Amino acid sequence: MNETIVDGGAVRLRPWAERDVEEVSRACGDPEIARYLPLLPSPYTAGDARWWITTGAPAAWQADGAAWAVVDPATDRVLGGAGMSHVVAGRGQAEVGYWVAPWARRQGVATAAARAVAGWAFRERGLVRLELLTAATNEASQRVALAAGFTREGVRRGAGTDRFGERVDLTAFVRLAADSGDRVAPGLPDFPGGQLTDGNATIRPITVADADDLLALHALPEVAKTNLGPRGTAEFMRLRCESTGADWLAGARANCVILDAATGAFAGDIGLFYQEPFTRQALIGYGLRPEFRGRGLATSAARLISDWALEHAGVIRVCAGTFPYNEASRAVLRRAGFEQEAYMKAKLPGPDGTRIDDIQFVRIAERFR
Ligand SMILES: CC(C)(COP(=O)(O)OP(=O)(O)OC[C@H]1O[C@@H](n2cnc3c(N)ncnc32)[C@H](O)[C@@H]1OP(=O)(O)O)[C@@H](O)C(=O)NCCC(=O)NCCS
Repeated sequence: MNETIVDGGAVRLRPWAERDVEEVSRACGDPEIARYLPLLPSPYTAGDARWWITTGAPAAWQADGAAWAVVDPATDRVLGGAGMSHVVAGRGQAEVGYWVAPWARRQGVATAAARAVAGWAFRERGLVRLELLTAATNEASQRVALAAGFTREGVRRGAGTDRFGERVDLTAFVRLAADSGDRVAPGLPDFPGGQLTDGNATIRPITVADADDLLALHALPEVAKTNLGPRGTAEFMRLRCESTGADWLAGARANCVILDAATGAFAGDIGLFYQEPFTRQALIGYGLRPEFRGRGLATSAARLISDWALEHAGVIRVCAGTFPYNEASRAVLRRAGFEQEAYMKAKLPGPDGTRIDDIQFVRIAERFR
Protein backbone atom coordinates (compact mmCIF):
# COMPACT_ATOMS: atom_id res chain seq x y z
CA MET A 1 0.00 0.00 0.00
CA ASN A 2 1.35 3.46 -0.84
CA GLU A 3 2.13 5.80 1.97
CA THR A 4 0.15 8.95 1.68
CA ILE A 5 -0.34 12.46 3.08
CA VAL A 6 -3.57 13.37 4.87
CA ASP A 7 -4.62 16.94 5.61
CA GLY A 8 -6.19 16.95 9.09
CA GLY A 9 -6.75 20.70 9.42
CA ALA A 10 -4.73 21.57 12.53
CA VAL A 11 -2.38 18.64 11.84
CA ARG A 12 -0.91 16.92 8.80
CA LEU A 13 -0.29 13.17 8.58
CA ARG A 14 2.79 12.41 6.47
CA PRO A 15 5.18 9.46 6.06
CA TRP A 16 8.01 9.19 8.58
CA ALA A 17 11.40 10.48 7.40
CA GLU A 18 14.96 9.90 8.66
CA ARG A 19 15.17 13.54 9.78
CA ASP A 20 12.52 12.69 12.44
CA VAL A 21 14.83 10.37 14.43
CA GLU A 22 15.82 12.95 17.04
CA GLU A 23 12.26 14.09 17.77
CA VAL A 24 10.84 10.55 17.84
CA SER A 25 13.47 9.35 20.30
CA ARG A 26 12.95 12.41 22.52
CA ALA A 27 9.14 12.06 22.46
CA CYS A 28 9.07 8.30 23.01
CA GLY A 29 11.36 8.61 26.03
CA ASP A 30 8.38 10.14 27.85
CA PRO A 31 7.08 8.07 30.82
CA GLU A 32 3.39 8.46 29.80
CA ILE A 33 4.18 6.93 26.40
CA ALA A 34 6.12 4.11 28.06
CA ARG A 35 3.16 3.53 30.39
CA TYR A 36 0.40 3.44 27.80
CA LEU A 37 2.23 2.02 24.78
CA PRO A 38 3.82 -1.04 26.39
CA LEU A 39 4.99 -2.47 23.07
CA LEU A 40 7.44 0.42 22.64
CA PRO A 41 10.96 -0.18 24.03
CA SER A 42 11.75 1.58 27.31
CA PRO A 43 14.20 3.27 27.63
CA TYR A 44 13.70 4.41 24.04
CA THR A 45 16.87 5.12 22.06
CA ALA A 46 17.76 6.85 18.77
CA GLY A 47 18.33 3.34 17.40
CA ASP A 48 14.73 2.42 18.26
CA ALA A 49 13.50 5.56 16.48
CA ARG A 50 15.59 4.74 13.41
CA TRP A 51 14.23 1.16 13.36
CA TRP A 52 10.67 2.50 13.54
CA ILE A 53 11.20 4.96 10.69
CA THR A 54 13.09 2.62 8.35
CA THR A 55 11.51 -0.76 9.21
CA GLY A 56 8.53 -0.67 11.62
CA ALA A 57 6.41 1.97 9.91
CA PRO A 58 6.94 0.63 6.37
CA ALA A 59 5.99 -2.84 7.68
CA ALA A 60 2.70 -1.40 8.99
CA TRP A 61 1.90 -0.16 5.47
CA GLN A 62 2.86 -3.56 4.02
CA ALA A 63 0.35 -5.19 6.38
CA ASP A 64 -2.46 -2.99 4.99
CA GLY A 65 -2.21 -0.70 8.01
CA ALA A 66 -0.90 2.87 8.21
CA ALA A 67 1.79 4.66 10.27
CA TRP A 68 2.18 8.42 9.97
CA ALA A 69 4.11 11.23 11.53
CA VAL A 70 1.66 13.81 12.88
CA VAL A 71 3.20 17.19 12.07
CA ASP A 72 2.46 20.88 12.30
CA PRO A 73 1.28 21.80 8.77
CA ALA A 74 3.06 25.17 8.95
CA THR A 75 6.49 24.07 10.24
CA ASP A 76 6.57 20.29 9.57
CA ARG A 77 7.64 19.84 13.23
CA VAL A 78 6.80 16.38 14.63
CA LEU A 79 3.90 16.58 17.08
CA GLY A 80 3.23 12.85 17.41
CA GLY A 81 2.45 9.61 15.63
CA ALA A 82 -0.81 8.04 14.45
CA GLY A 83 -1.80 4.98 12.54
CA MET A 84 -4.10 2.11 11.79
CA SER A 85 -3.51 -1.58 12.47
CA HIS A 86 -5.24 -4.96 12.95
CA VAL A 87 -7.29 -4.73 9.77
CA VAL A 88 -10.03 -7.38 9.67
CA ALA A 89 -11.23 -7.13 6.10
CA GLY A 90 -14.25 -9.41 6.61
CA ARG A 91 -15.58 -7.08 9.26
CA GLY A 92 -14.61 -3.86 7.52
CA GLN A 93 -12.75 -3.14 10.73
CA ALA A 94 -9.38 -1.84 11.93
CA GLU A 95 -7.80 -0.22 14.99
CA VAL A 96 -6.69 3.39 15.37
CA GLY A 97 -3.76 4.39 17.57
CA TYR A 98 -1.78 7.56 18.39
CA TRP A 99 0.72 9.22 20.68
CA VAL A 100 1.53 12.89 21.11
CA ALA A 101 4.94 14.33 22.04
CA PRO A 102 5.03 15.95 25.50
CA TRP A 103 5.67 19.35 23.87
CA ALA A 104 2.44 19.19 21.84
CA ARG A 105 -0.11 17.89 24.38
CA ARG A 106 -3.45 19.44 25.41
CA GLN A 107 -3.72 21.35 22.11
CA GLY A 108 -6.12 19.05 20.30
CA VAL A 109 -3.37 17.24 18.36
CA ALA A 110 -4.50 13.68 19.18
CA THR A 111 -8.14 14.54 18.55
CA ALA A 112 -7.34 16.05 15.14
CA ALA A 113 -5.08 13.10 14.28
CA ALA A 114 -7.68 10.47 15.29
CA ARG A 115 -10.31 12.30 13.24
CA ALA A 116 -7.96 12.46 10.24
CA VAL A 117 -7.13 8.74 10.46
CA ALA A 118 -10.83 7.84 10.76
CA GLY A 119 -11.85 10.03 7.83
CA TRP A 120 -9.11 8.52 5.67
CA ALA A 121 -9.91 4.91 6.69
CA PHE A 122 -13.63 5.30 5.90
CA ARG A 123 -13.01 7.25 2.70
CA GLU A 124 -9.92 5.63 1.20
CA ARG A 125 -10.09 2.11 2.57
CA GLY A 126 -13.85 1.65 2.69
CA LEU A 127 -13.75 0.46 6.31
CA VAL A 128 -16.98 0.71 8.32
CA ARG A 129 -15.89 0.12 11.92
CA LEU A 130 -12.86 1.57 13.70
CA GLU A 131 -11.84 0.48 17.18
CA LEU A 132 -9.78 2.55 19.55
CA LEU A 133 -8.51 0.49 22.49
CA THR A 134 -7.20 2.28 25.56
CA ALA A 135 -5.79 1.14 28.88
CA ALA A 136 -8.65 0.98 31.39
CA THR A 137 -7.13 3.91 33.32
CA ASN A 138 -5.99 6.07 30.37
CA GLU A 139 -8.36 8.97 30.92
CA ALA A 140 -6.51 11.28 28.48
CA SER A 141 -6.84 8.83 25.60
CA GLN A 142 -10.47 8.09 26.46
CA ARG A 143 -11.22 11.80 26.31
CA VAL A 144 -9.52 11.92 22.90
CA ALA A 145 -11.71 9.03 21.74
CA LEU A 146 -14.94 10.80 22.78
CA ALA A 147 -13.77 14.11 21.29
CA ALA A 148 -13.01 12.31 17.99
CA GLY A 149 -16.53 10.86 17.75
CA PHE A 150 -15.87 7.34 19.15
CA THR A 151 -18.51 5.81 21.45
CA ARG A 152 -17.51 3.77 24.51
CA GLU A 153 -18.50 0.16 23.89
CA GLY A 154 -17.19 -1.61 26.95
CA VAL A 155 -14.27 -3.35 28.60
CA ARG A 156 -12.44 -6.04 26.63
CA ARG A 157 -11.10 -8.33 29.31
CA GLY A 158 -7.49 -9.43 28.86
CA ALA A 159 -7.33 -7.87 25.39
CA GLY A 160 -3.84 -6.42 25.87
CA THR A 161 -0.55 -7.11 27.58
CA ASP A 162 1.50 -4.88 29.82
CA ARG A 163 5.25 -4.37 29.56
CA PHE A 164 5.84 -7.57 31.57
CA GLY A 165 3.61 -9.73 29.37
CA GLU A 166 0.67 -9.85 31.84
CA ARG A 167 -2.79 -9.71 30.27
CA VAL A 168 -4.63 -6.43 30.94
CA ASP A 169 -8.15 -5.19 30.23
CA LEU A 170 -8.62 -2.58 27.51
CA THR A 171 -11.57 -0.22 27.12
CA ALA A 172 -13.01 -0.19 23.62
CA PHE A 173 -14.28 2.94 21.87
CA VAL A 174 -15.75 2.51 18.41
CA ARG A 175 -16.66 4.82 15.53
CA LEU A 176 -18.75 3.52 12.65
CA ALA A 177 -18.62 5.01 9.16
CA ALA A 178 -22.33 5.73 9.62
CA ASP A 179 -21.81 7.69 12.85
CA SER A 180 -22.04 11.47 12.69
CA GLY A 181 -18.47 11.86 13.95
CA ASP A 182 -19.65 14.54 16.36
CA ARG A 183 -17.97 14.67 19.78
CA VAL A 184 -19.57 12.05 22.05
CA ALA A 185 -20.68 13.30 25.47
CA PRO A 186 -19.12 11.61 28.52
CA GLY A 187 -21.39 9.43 30.70
CA LEU A 188 -21.19 12.02 33.49
CA PRO A 189 -20.30 15.67 32.80
CA ASP A 190 -17.25 17.31 34.37
CA PHE A 191 -17.82 19.60 37.34
CA PRO A 192 -18.06 23.15 35.99
CA GLY A 193 -14.64 24.63 36.80
CA GLY A 194 -13.31 21.23 37.92
CA GLN A 195 -14.70 21.36 41.47
CA LEU A 196 -17.78 22.37 43.45
CA THR A 197 -17.82 24.49 46.59
CA ASP A 198 -20.26 26.32 48.85
CA GLY A 199 -17.56 28.03 50.90
CA ASN A 200 -17.79 25.39 53.64
CA ALA A 201 -16.82 22.22 51.75
CA THR A 202 -15.16 21.76 48.37
CA ILE A 203 -15.53 18.54 46.42
CA ARG A 204 -13.35 17.51 43.48
CA PRO A 205 -12.62 14.25 41.61
CA ILE A 206 -10.27 11.83 43.39
CA THR A 207 -6.68 11.66 42.09
CA VAL A 208 -3.89 9.13 42.67
CA ALA A 209 -2.37 11.52 45.21
CA ASP A 210 -5.41 10.93 47.48
CA ALA A 211 -4.82 7.17 47.85
CA ASP A 212 -3.16 7.25 51.30
CA ASP A 213 -5.73 9.65 52.78
CA LEU A 214 -8.57 7.49 51.45
CA LEU A 215 -7.01 4.30 52.73
CA ALA A 216 -6.70 5.79 56.23
CA LEU A 217 -10.31 7.03 56.08
CA HIS A 218 -11.64 3.63 55.08
CA ALA A 219 -9.62 1.89 57.79
CA LEU A 220 -11.73 3.71 60.44
CA PRO A 221 -14.13 1.08 61.84
CA GLU A 222 -17.21 3.32 61.64
CA VAL A 223 -16.45 4.14 57.97
CA ALA A 224 -15.47 0.56 57.04
CA LYS A 225 -18.83 -0.62 58.46
CA THR A 226 -20.75 1.50 55.93
CA ASN A 227 -18.76 0.20 52.93
CA LEU A 228 -20.56 -2.41 50.91
CA GLY A 229 -17.73 -3.16 48.46
CA PRO A 230 -14.09 -4.14 49.06
CA ARG A 231 -12.01 -1.11 49.94
CA GLY A 232 -9.54 -2.20 52.56
CA THR A 233 -6.36 -2.83 50.59
CA ALA A 234 -3.81 -0.34 49.27
CA GLU A 235 -3.97 -2.06 45.86
CA PHE A 236 -7.75 -1.65 45.67
CA MET A 237 -7.52 2.02 46.66
CA ARG A 238 -4.75 2.73 44.11
CA LEU A 239 -6.86 1.19 41.35
CA ARG A 240 -9.96 3.08 42.50
CA CYS A 241 -8.01 6.34 42.38
CA GLU A 242 -6.45 5.58 38.97
CA SER A 243 -9.86 4.66 37.56
CA THR A 244 -11.72 7.75 38.74
CA GLY A 245 -11.45 9.57 35.40
CA ALA A 246 -12.41 6.52 33.32
CA ASP A 247 -15.31 5.65 35.68
CA TRP A 248 -16.56 9.22 35.33
CA LEU A 249 -16.38 9.16 31.51
CA ALA A 250 -18.12 5.76 31.50
CA GLY A 251 -20.97 7.29 33.53
CA ALA A 252 -20.53 4.65 36.23
CA ARG A 253 -19.50 6.74 39.22
CA ALA A 254 -18.28 10.16 40.30
CA ASN A 255 -15.76 9.60 43.10
CA CYS A 256 -14.73 12.73 44.98
CA VAL A 257 -12.79 13.90 47.97
CA ILE A 258 -14.33 16.35 50.42
CA LEU A 259 -11.99 19.19 51.39
CA ASP A 260 -12.34 21.78 54.14
CA ALA A 261 -12.95 24.81 51.88
CA ALA A 262 -11.06 27.16 54.21
CA THR A 263 -7.79 25.20 54.37
CA GLY A 264 -8.02 22.69 51.53
CA ALA A 265 -7.39 19.86 54.04
CA PHE A 266 -8.62 16.36 53.18
CA ALA A 267 -11.80 15.85 55.22
CA GLY A 268 -13.43 12.79 53.66
CA ASP A 269 -14.95 11.35 50.53
CA ILE A 270 -18.25 11.28 48.70
CA GLY A 271 -19.28 9.28 45.65
CA LEU A 272 -22.22 9.22 43.30
CA PHE A 273 -22.93 5.81 41.77
CA TYR A 274 -25.07 5.96 38.67
CA GLN A 275 -26.73 2.62 39.22
CA GLU A 276 -29.80 3.07 37.05
CA PRO A 277 -29.18 5.39 34.10
CA PHE A 278 -32.35 4.08 32.46
CA THR A 279 -34.57 5.28 35.32
CA ARG A 280 -32.15 8.18 35.98
CA GLN A 281 -31.57 7.12 39.55
CA ALA A 282 -28.21 7.45 41.31
CA LEU A 283 -26.99 6.65 44.81
CA ILE A 284 -24.62 8.66 47.00
CA GLY A 285 -22.37 7.58 49.87
CA TYR A 286 -19.91 9.55 52.02
CA GLY A 287 -17.59 9.45 55.04
CA LEU A 288 -15.65 12.03 57.07
CA ARG A 289 -12.51 11.95 59.18
CA PRO A 290 -13.49 12.32 62.89
CA GLU A 291 -11.76 15.70 63.33
CA PHE A 292 -13.90 17.19 60.53
CA ARG A 293 -17.27 15.99 61.80
CA GLY A 294 -19.83 18.37 63.32
CA ARG A 295 -19.03 21.22 60.91
CA GLY A 296 -21.64 20.57 58.23
CA LEU A 297 -19.07 19.33 55.72
CA ALA A 298 -20.97 16.12 54.86
CA THR A 299 -24.18 18.14 54.49
CA SER A 300 -22.44 20.60 52.15
CA ALA A 301 -20.90 17.76 50.12
CA ALA A 302 -24.20 15.85 49.83
CA ARG A 303 -25.96 19.01 48.70
CA LEU A 304 -23.21 19.95 46.22
CA ILE A 305 -23.04 16.55 44.54
CA SER A 306 -26.83 16.12 44.40
CA ASP A 307 -27.30 19.68 43.02
CA TRP A 308 -24.78 18.82 40.28
CA ALA A 309 -26.40 15.45 39.54
CA LEU A 310 -29.89 16.94 39.30
CA GLU A 311 -28.94 20.10 37.42
CA HIS A 312 -26.10 18.95 35.15
CA ALA A 313 -26.02 15.15 34.89
CA GLY A 314 -29.65 14.43 33.99
CA VAL A 315 -30.29 12.48 37.21
CA ILE A 316 -33.90 12.67 38.46
CA ARG A 317 -33.67 10.71 41.72
CA VAL A 318 -30.61 10.90 43.98
CA CYS A 319 -30.94 8.21 46.66
CA ALA A 320 -28.98 7.49 49.81
CA GLY A 321 -29.26 4.48 52.10
CA THR A 322 -28.64 4.54 55.84
CA PHE A 323 -28.23 1.69 58.31
CA PRO A 324 -30.99 1.77 60.97
CA TYR A 325 -28.49 2.78 63.71
CA ASN A 326 -27.09 5.68 61.65
CA GLU A 327 -29.07 8.69 62.89
CA ALA A 328 -26.09 11.00 62.15
CA SER A 329 -26.22 10.17 58.45
CA ARG A 330 -30.01 10.72 58.36
CA ALA A 331 -29.54 14.16 59.93
CA VAL A 332 -27.01 15.01 57.17
CA LEU A 333 -29.42 13.91 54.46
CA ARG A 334 -32.40 15.86 55.87
CA ARG A 335 -30.28 19.01 56.06
CA ALA A 336 -29.06 18.43 52.49
CA GLY A 337 -32.64 18.44 51.16
CA PHE A 338 -33.32 14.68 51.09
CA GLU A 339 -36.52 13.13 52.46
CA GLN A 340 -37.07 9.71 53.98
CA GLU A 341 -38.79 7.44 51.50
CA ALA A 342 -38.68 3.76 52.39
CA TYR A 343 -37.70 1.21 55.00
CA MET A 344 -36.24 -1.69 53.04
CA LYS A 345 -35.88 -4.91 54.99
CA ALA A 346 -32.72 -7.03 54.50
CA LYS A 347 -31.70 -4.80 51.58
CA LEU A 348 -27.96 -4.72 52.22
CA PRO A 349 -25.33 -7.46 52.58
CA GLY A 350 -23.93 -7.54 56.13
CA PRO A 351 -20.96 -9.39 57.64
CA ASP A 352 -20.89 -13.22 57.65
CA GLY A 353 -23.81 -13.69 55.26
CA THR A 354 -26.22 -11.53 57.32
CA ARG A 355 -28.49 -8.88 55.79
CA ILE A 356 -29.06 -5.34 57.07
CA ASP A 357 -32.17 -3.16 56.82
CA ASP A 358 -31.79 0.06 54.85
CA ILE A 359 -33.62 3.32 55.53
CA GLN A 360 -33.69 5.05 52.15
CA PHE A 361 -33.68 8.76 51.47
CA VAL A 362 -34.24 10.52 48.18
CA ARG A 363 -33.84 13.95 46.64
CA ILE A 364 -35.91 14.46 43.50
CA ALA A 365 -35.36 16.93 40.66
CA GLU A 366 -37.38 20.04 41.50
CA ARG A 367 -39.66 19.78 38.47
CA PHE A 368 -40.93 16.34 39.57
CA ARG A 369 -41.58 17.16 43.21
C1 LIG B 1 -3.37 10.54 25.19
C2 LIG B 1 -2.64 11.59 24.35
C3 LIG B 1 -2.46 11.03 22.97
C4 LIG B 1 -3.51 12.86 24.30
O1 LIG B 1 -2.96 13.75 23.34
P1 LIG B 1 -3.38 15.31 23.28
O2 LIG B 1 -3.00 15.83 21.95
O3 LIG B 1 -2.85 15.98 24.49
O4 LIG B 1 -4.98 15.23 23.39
P2 LIG B 1 -5.99 16.42 22.98
O5 LIG B 1 -5.31 17.74 23.16
O6 LIG B 1 -6.58 16.10 21.64
O7 LIG B 1 -7.09 16.27 24.11
C5 LIG B 1 -8.36 15.68 23.91
C6 LIG B 1 -9.14 15.75 25.20
O8 LIG B 1 -8.45 15.02 26.22
C7 LIG B 1 -8.22 15.85 27.35
N1 LIG B 1 -6.95 15.47 27.92
C8 LIG B 1 -5.77 15.40 27.28
N2 LIG B 1 -4.81 15.01 28.15
C9 LIG B 1 -5.40 14.82 29.34
C10 LIG B 1 -4.94 14.42 30.60
N3 LIG B 1 -3.65 14.11 30.82
N4 LIG B 1 -5.84 14.34 31.61
C11 LIG B 1 -7.14 14.62 31.40
N5 LIG B 1 -7.64 15.01 30.21
C12 LIG B 1 -6.78 15.11 29.19
C13 LIG B 1 -8.19 17.24 26.79
O9 LIG B 1 -8.51 18.20 27.78
C14 LIG B 1 -9.28 17.16 25.75
O10 LIG B 1 -10.55 17.21 26.38
P3 LIG B 1 -11.76 18.01 25.76
O11 LIG B 1 -11.93 17.45 24.36
O12 LIG B 1 -12.89 17.70 26.67
O13 LIG B 1 -11.31 19.43 25.74
C15 LIG B 1 -1.25 11.96 24.96
O14 LIG B 1 -1.44 12.32 26.32
C16 LIG B 1 -0.26 10.81 24.89
O15 LIG B 1 0.49 10.71 23.93
N6 LIG B 1 -0.25 9.94 25.93
C17 LIG B 1 0.68 8.79 25.96
C18 LIG B 1 0.41 7.76 24.84
C19 LIG B 1 -1.03 7.31 24.79
O16 LIG B 1 -1.70 7.20 25.81
N7 LIG B 1 -1.52 6.99 23.58
C20 LIG B 1 -2.85 6.48 23.40
C21 LIG B 1 -2.85 5.02 23.64
S1 LIG B 1 -4.50 4.37 23.47
